[in-house]
Amino acid sequence: MKLTNDTLSAYWMPFTANREFKANPRMFVSADGLYYRTTDGREVFDGSSGLWCCALGHNHPKVVKAIREQAGKLDYASPFQFGHPAAFELANILADDMPDDLNHIFFTNSGSESVDTALKIATAYHFLRGEGTRTRMIGRVNGYHGVGFGGISVGGMVNNRKFFGTLLTGVDHLPFPYDPETMAFSRGEPEPCDAYADELENIIALHDSSTIAAVIVEPVFGSAGVYVPPKGYLKRLREITEKHGILLIFDEVITAFGRLGYATAAERFGVTPDIITIAKAISNGSVPMGAVAVRKGIYDTFLDETKSGIELFHGYTYSAHPLAVAAAIAVQKIYKNEGVYENVRKLEGYFEDMAHALGDEDVITDVRNIGLMCGLTVAQKDGVPMSRSGAIFQRAFENGLKIRITGDQVAIAPPLIVTKNDIDKIAELMRQTIKDVG
Ligand SMILES: Cc1ncc(COP(=O)(O)O)c(C=O)c1O
Repeated sequence: MKLTNDTLSAYWMPFTANREFKANPRMFVSADGLYYRTTDGREVFDGSSGLWCCALGHNHPKVVKAIREQAGKLDYASPFQFGHPAAFELANILADDMPDDLNHIFFTNSGSESVDTALKIATAYHFLRGEGTRTRMIGRVNGYHGVGFGGISVGGMVNNRKFFGTLLTGVDHLPFPYDPETMAFSRGEPEPCDAYADELENIIALHDSSTIAAVIVEPVFGSAGVYVPPKGYLKRLREITEKHGILLIFDEVITAFGRLGYATAAERFGVTPDIITIAKAISNGSVPMGAVAVRKGIYDTFLDETKSGIELFHGYTYSAHPLAVAAAIAVQKIYKNEGVYENVRKLEGYFEDMAHALGDEDVITDVRNIGLMCGLTVAQKDGVPMSRSGAIFQRAFENGLKIRITGDQVAIAPPLIVTKNDIDKIAELMRQTIKDVG
């Protein structure tokens, strides 16, 4: 099909300025390793791992083989009342990777579904324990938890909420734990600032703990532009939630599977939540998949309290889809057998130096980093939001680098298999792009 103004209009693209895109489309036709290839035959370095998901880069031969073989063997199996062995194998692999006793895995198809599943599990858990008044959820200003009604309710990015009505009732938000005065240009975790986590005590005092089911946070803000928690922040949230019988949910849709050099951010920060939501790198983005890991005590409560019959009235037609499971098993084996997380730990310092060196540019007003992810704040032109970051995004693409922007924040998160040379390449393309845009 020839792509013209007419044929481009049928596809209503998500989170995209459709008018601008269709006037000047950015199209990929293939990918291999760290590079995409565009319709006009150019190579573009994938500086954002697709959408934070392609940790191994693209078209890894072992993943391609696993998907191909599975497609010819078992294309689909109902996950309600039936199973297929590989789903149980994958659940065990993932359970082994989760911290402590988060060893029960519920499969979904995306991060948004994982979040809504986690919120439902948290509410039903309290209901089954005879604390049905605990329905309130606490999210955070600037948090991103996908696009379901649950996710946007606990999320804190205004554009994702304001068009969609009253959302879930009974939700409150912790403040954004970031102060440019004291935290700009921090390397890794900013210095401690207990006030942000302690605000949870005020929220609990306002609503009473008997009404609160769970607190949900991204261990590192991803979509808002890579904001790393101050030292001790997550630990303090854990202490407070535990004290008040509130579940703590880590939304690790971006951070799980190596982005911070460990299977989970929970492991990296040494803080164990009650529920972890995962997606994206679970299957390297090759076939859609998500999952929710819950502590043994939560799973046991469902089984003990319901006695017989269905314990959780929830699930998706495509939960544990055979193609996604096959892809995820192949991906998880590569993470373990090919030293992928170790590579992140080895290169984190080099990547950090690269990111902070870009901070020398006048138009970069903040740099944040952890693992293989960094966020750069870009100064606006004439006070117009996204004026310079949008130009940098477009110019980077033309120069051969795919990055991600949210508002005035640029995020760079390359595949976890990069080398020092690849990081140098990112730096070179970013410098050139910043110079071109001015
Ligand atoms: C922390 C977090 N939660 C949830 C989601 C939603 O995932 P999906 O787009 O797969 O629904 C995202 C997506 O970026 C995310 O970063």
